[in-house]
Amino acid sequence: MRIAVVGTGYVGLVTGTCLADSGNRVTCLDINADKIARLQKGEIPIYEPGLQGLVARNTAVGRLVFTTDTVAAIGSAEIVFLAVGTPPSADGAADLSALWKVIDSIAAHLDPLAVIVTKSTVPVGTCAGIEKRLLVLTGRACRVASNPEVLKEGAAIEDFQKPDRVVVGVRSADVADVLRNLYAPFLRTENPFLVMSPESSEMTKYVANALLATKISFMNEVANLCERMEADIDDVRRGIGHDSRIGFAFLFPGVGYGGSCFPKDVQALAAMARDKGLVPRMLNAVHETNILQKHILGQKIAASFGGHLAGRKIAIWGLAFKPRTDDIRDAPAIDLIEQLLAGAAQVTVYDPEAMANVRAIYGNRLIYSTCAMDALNGAECLAIVTEWGDFHHPDFDDMARRMAAPVIFDGRNLYSPADMHARGFTYHSIGKSPVIGS
Ligand SMILES: NC(=O)c1ccc[n+]([C@@H]2O[C@H](COP(=O)([O-])OP(=O)(O)OC[C@H]3O[C@@H](n4cnc5c(N)ncnc54)[C@H](O)[C@@H]3O)[C@@H](O)[C@H]2O)c1
Repeated sequence: MRIAVVGTGYVGLVTGTCLADSGNRVTCLDINADKIARLQKGEIPIYEPGLQGLVARNTAVGRLVFTTDTVAAIGSAEIVFLAVGTPPSADGAADLSALWKVIDSIAAHLDPLAVIVTKSTVPVGTCAGIEKRLLVLTGRACRVASNPEVLKEGAAIEDFQKPDRVVVGVRSADVADVLRNLYAPFLRTENPFLVMSPESSEMTKYVANALLATKISFMNEVANLCERMEADIDDVRRGIGHDSRIGFAFLFPGVGYGGSCFPKDVQALAAMARDKGLVPRMLNAVHETNILQKHILGQKIAASFGGHLAGRKIAIWGLAFKPRTDDIRDAPAIDLIEQLLAGAAQVTVYDPEAMANVRAIYGNRLIYSTCAMDALNGAECLAIVTEWGDFHHPDFDDMARRMAAPVIFDGRNLYSPADMHARGFTYHSIGKSPVIGS
């Protein structure tokens, strides 16, 4: 099929590339000329495992092209995916300004039979709004569908190529058939292709993310309680996870959820509820709990220095909002950096992939280390914020030698407290009593 993908970010680039890889002819369109120029040269503007090779293979055979030219991208497309950003506006509701700009710019060039598909996460009623707007702009009823994206950054290719389900929201069986045919190569293991109304499909995406965020905030809240009750959250996690009604997924406590989806989607769903006169008590609590949790490490570190951070040398491992991505949008590390810099600490940071993005924000206000171990030289404590694989089995003796004091604030519970105690570290984790170095 001939496909246009509008918005070549984390979702659009992965979507376009995977659809090209299954034999379609895909044109990725973006208004960011610099991004498109880099992609045309074979440079990948984001870090996503496996993406570089897949882009190279499909551009080489001409199935995947990048452009800023709306007419060239849209004119011949049978399916147009909308994958632009939908960030939160001041009141938490999704800001759809980029999406409406796209609709206005593509309307005149759409094939009458083209199917326009929202992949961006959009509030319930957006498909209906697009149908109305395109009717005005084109003078005809256009075929509009919802197909929310469920990929996870860091595993995006695998998620797209082997989805546990594909959800589409359509008004007619023929549009469902177009999308069923498109996704057939990815659903060969009989995972479901779920057809529903656009409204249910749009809601499904928000409810999925809000429920996952709820699990995280709940576990973080009880983890903080465990610390004060001398209980161990990992034991509790194991104790509840074997209950088949609960399961183990998303039960790890930490420093709060970040990224471009959970924080904004929880707020957007709450805004939808408020808009309909409902009070989103649980969603509000999930969001507020998360904001507090993002400050937990900073508070513990400040307390350990008697509230005085000025001049303290603090190392941070992990800046991306999760491992295997360079994405720092709403990342807990940013909250921690803000807290430490506000206290005039001297902060040295290291992340395997996200350094450039952090440097673009903080410039010379931070010290950037080229490897995890060097970040520790002279540090009075280490904060671990992202659970990159590299951090799971470090050389603890080397760490202790480099640090001015062997003190770790682990926001991801990577190590055994007993083991750290035996090694002479003072070790603070989430949801467990701290151990003081021997
Ligand atoms: N990132 C994720 O893990 C993820 C997962 C599922 C769903 N989503 C949703 O997908 C959507 C996109 O997210 P993302 O992370 O890929 O965003 P992103 O910010 O990485 O990419 C958006 C892209 O759209 C481009 N753009 C903006 N206006 C445009 C216009 N008028 N014409 C063409 N291009 C335009 C931007 O230049 C940018 O390259 C959001 O709604 C998000 O909630 C994201």
